[in-house]
Amino acid sequence: MSRPHPALWLLALALLVTAVGALLGGWIAERPAGLVPDHLRATYDPIHFKPAIEQATDEQCLACHREVLDDTVRETSPAGVRAAASLAWYQQTSTYVGGQETFHRRHLVTPLARELMDLRCTTCHQGHDPREEAPGSSASAVPLTSQDFTLRKPVNVETTCLMCHGQLPVQLMGLPAPWPEAKAMFGNDCLTCHAAIRTHRHQVSYLKAAAIEAAGAKNSDVCYGCHGGRAWYRISYPYPRHAWPGMPADVPDWAKDRPSESEARFQRPATARP
Ligand code: HEC
Ligand code: HEC
Ligand code: HEC
Ligand code: HEC
Ligand code: HEC
Repeated sequence: MSRPHPALWLLALALLVTAVGALLGGWIAERPAGLVPDHLRATYDPIHFKPAIEQATDEQCLACHREVLDDTVRETSPAGVRAAASLAWYQQTSTYVGGQETFHRRHLVTPLARELMDLRCTTCHQGHDPREEAPGSSASAVPLTSQDFTLRKPVNVETTCLMCHGQLPVQLMGLPAPWPEAKAMFGNDCLTCHAAIRTHRHQVSYLKAAAIEAAGAKNSDVCYGCHGGRAWYRISYPYPRHAWPGMPADVPDWAKDRPSESEARFQRPATARP
C-alpha cells in the first residue's frame, strides 16, 4: 500500500482548519450582540469603558453577568454557621425583610430596593480600568499624590455609596444628639421638621421620590436607613441644597459651597417628576 504524499496531509489539514474557522466565525457572528465567546475579549469589551458604558442598559450587562442577580448566598456556611442566625445590627432595623441576600440583590431586586430605588448597573459602575490594579506601580512612575493613591476599584465609593451610607449631620441640622437618642423628642419622625424644611428632595433618576415620602411618613426608619442608619462612613454626604418654599434668605456658612442642583447625570426631566 502506498502512503499518501505528505503534501496531501498538509492540504487536508489546511482544509480542516479553514472549515472549522468558517464554522466558528459563523457561530460568533450569529451570537447576540455583546456576547463574545472569548474571556479576554469580553474582559476588555468596550462596554466596560467610557463612553460606551454611559449608554449601557442593565440587560446588556446582565447578558454576561447574570450571576450578580441570579446567584444568592448559602443558607449555611461551609463551617456550619446559619445565615439566618447571624444578622448584623443593620439587618435588625424594621425595614429589613427576608433572608440574607447578596450585595447586588439587596440594591436591585429585594422588596425595599424595588419600592424605594431604581438603581442601574451604571448608577454605580461608571467604567473601570482592568489594566492597572495599583496605580504608579512601575519603577519609572511619577511619584503619586495622596489623591492618586487608591487601589483600582470598579466603583467610586465616595460618590455613590456615601450618598446613602453616610452619617446624619445632626450638628448642622440643630439636633441636640444623634438620632437614636434625639428621636423621642421629635416623635421619631423626620417629617416633624422635613414636612417644611428641604422639601425639594430625591428628584433623581435612581430614587422613587413619591414612594420614599409615602414610606417615610409611615416609618422614619425608612429615611434614617439612607441618612445615618446604615452608615459605613464617619462623614456625611454633602447633599445639594435645593431651594424650598419658605427657605430663609440667609445661607448658613456650612452650605455656602453646596450645589443647588443634583449631580447632572442623575437629573431627570421636569415632566417626569412625580
Ligand atoms: C461581553 C460580555 C460582558 C459584558 C457585556 C459586560 N461584561 Fe463585565 N466583565 C466581563 C468579563 C469576561 C469580565 C472579567 C471577569 C474576570 O476576569 O473574572 C468582566 C469584569 C467585570 C467587572 C469586574 C472588574 C474587575 O476588574 O474586577 C465588573 C465590575 C463588570 N465587568 C461590570 C460590567 C458592567 C457594569 C457591564 C455593563 C455596563 C458589563 N460588565 C458588561 C464580561 C462582560
Ligand atoms: C449599589 C451600587 C452597585 C450597583 C447598582 C451595581 N453594582 Fe456591581 N459592584 C458594586 C460594587 C461595590 C462591587 C464590588 C467592587 C469591588 O469588589 O471592589 C461590584 C462588583 C461587580 C462585579 C464584579 C464581580 C462581583 O460580583 O463582585 C460585577 C461583574 C458587577 N458588579 C456587575 C454589576 C451589574 C451587571 C450590575 C447591574 C445589574 C451591577 N453590578 C450593579 C456596586 C454596584
Ligand atoms: C440610593 C441609595 C443607596 C446607594 C447609592 C447604596 N446603597 Fe447600600 N443600601 C441601600 C439600602 C436602602 C439598603 C437596605 C436594603 C434592605 O434592607 O433591604 C442598603 C444596604 C446595604 C448593605 C447591607 C446589605 C444587607 O444584606 O444587609 C450594604 C453592605 C450596602 N448597602 C453597601 C453599599 C455599598 C458598598 C454601596 C456603594 C457601592 C451602596 N451600598 C450604595 C441604599 C443604597
Ligand atoms: C429638629 C428638626 C429636624 C428633624 C427632626 C430632622 N431634621 Fe434633617 N434637617 C433639619 C435642618 C434644620 C436641616 C438643615 C436645613 C438647611 O439646609 O438649612 C436638615 C437637613 C437635613 C439633610 C440635609 C443635610 C445636608 O448636608 O445637606 C438631610 C439628609 C436630613 N436633614 C435628613 C433627616 C432625616 C433622615 C431625619 C430623620 C431621621 C431628619 N433629617 C430629622 C432639621 C431636622
Ligand atoms: C433610598 C435612600 C433614601 C431614602 C429612603 C431617603 N433618602 Fe433622603 N436622600 C437620599 C439621596 C441619595 C439624596 C441626594 C439626592 C440628590 O443628589 O439630589 C437625598 C437627599 C435628601 C435631602 C436633601 C434635600 C435637598 O436639598 O436636595 C433631605 C433633606 C433628605 N434626603 C431627607 C430625607 C427624608 C426626610 C427621608 C424620608 C422621608 C429620606 N430622605 C429618605 C437618599 C434617601
